[in-house]
Amino acid sequence: MAKQKILVTGGAGFIGSHLVRLLVNKYPDYQIVNLDALTYAGNLANLTDIEQKDNYTFVKGDIVDADFLDQLFAEQNFDGVIHLAAESHVDRSITDPMSFIKTNIIGTVNLLNAARKSWGDFEGKRFYHVSTDEVYGTLGETGLFTEETSYDPRSPYSASKASSDHLVRAYHHTYGMPIVISNCSNNYGPFQFPEKLLPLFINNIKHNKALPVYGDGKYTRDWLWVEDHATAIDVIYHEGKNGDTYNIGGHNEWKNIDIINLMIKIVDEQLGRPEGTSQKLITYVKDRAGHDRRYAIDATKVKDELGWMPSLQMEEGLTRTVKWYLENSEWMDNVTSGNYQQYYEQMYADRV
Ligand code: NAD
Ligand code: DAU
Repeated sequence: MAKQKILVTGGAGFIGSHLVRLLVNKYPDYQIVNLDALTYAGNLANLTDIEQKDNYTFVKGDIVDADFLDQLFAEQNFDGVIHLAAESHVDRSITDPMSFIKTNIIGTVNLLNAARKSWGDFEGKRFYHVSTDEVYGTLGETGLFTEETSYDPRSPYSASKASSDHLVRAYHHTYGMPIVISNCSNNYGPFQFPEKLLPLFINNIKHNKALPVYGDGKYTRDWLWVEDHATAIDVIYHEGKNGDTYNIGGHNEWKNIDIINLMIKIVDEQLGRPEGTSQKLITYVKDRAGHDRRYAIDATKVKDELGWMPSLQMEEGLTRTVKWYLENSEWMDNVTSGNYQQYYEQMYADRV
């Protein structure tokens, strides 16, 4: 593999930190530059095991700041960009859409512009945009999202990601920028901020707090072990076809209430509580506005063309995930101190 300098944006977040770790460890000859604004979701504690490596650099910066990005690209001569920085939580996008427009749309265009200005004829360059299956909207009881499914985003978050996907493709068609895009299903694993279903519920079970299940609890998601997403990004970055899109998913659909019951079983078991102890915490609450009913990915293309497949079954992945959160209570206590309490009260007060 030829030496490369890769800019990873959002590398201090949940998925980004797993990807940065994979790249830094797997490619000692590469230079990996992690650009992150360290919002509430960014956390350098996610990267302590690699922060001293010679091939790793952290840069604090905001992708909404175009001048900063232009200067960074002029100084650094990147070969590639893997763009993950984003506002990522659907519920926050319902209460504050504008921050999603700024980071996810304007920030992405700023990055595309900075790359375009510094990359000349684009020889040997690649811009990889990491996106979500939520751009496709919602499924009924049957069917899967393929790369040909029409876009139909329904939340401010998914609309901002759809917009950024279109802009990345537009830079490919208009300016010839070499790009790839992937659209992935719900990730789970260590280092996920406890605003998302699984870490939030693990933490609440531990503290005997109510588990706020939105609506009837029968919404369905397709779950993927986060390290499998990182390996997919690695393969697609290196081998994906210029201009193409790849869907990534776990072939692992669960209704929320079923995964919640499994999680309760595993957490109670690991805490040494009698089976079923935390069932009483389940509390059905007011639904999320515009809640997408079902997501499920057809990941045939990435399997057939690039040989990628998920490695881990849900029960094993969830057991590892619960173990990690229970063993890393300092990490959880740090991210749930301060503003988190305020967030929680605002988000859930009028639901319960
Ligand atoms: P996250 O919220 O955990 O992390 C986002 C990171 O981006 C944080 O480190 C944050 O500090 C950084 N960031 C936010 N705004 C920034 C800005 N203006 N400038 C620079 N950095 C900024 O998100 P995640 O769950 O790790 O998701 C990463 C990417 O993957 C996102 O683009 C998301 O849309 C996409 N994605 C996520 C999932 C999932 O299940 N979590 C699934 C599919 C796709
Ligand atoms: O599909 C990929 C997407 O998955 C990513 O693009 C997003 O960044 C990521 O946040 C995730 O979106 P979801 O909205 O599916 O994830 P979340 O963890 O917020 O919710 C999962 C399901 O659980 C969803 O049906 C809503 C429900 N839920 C969530 C929370 C936080 C609850 O019932 N109660 C809750 O408190």
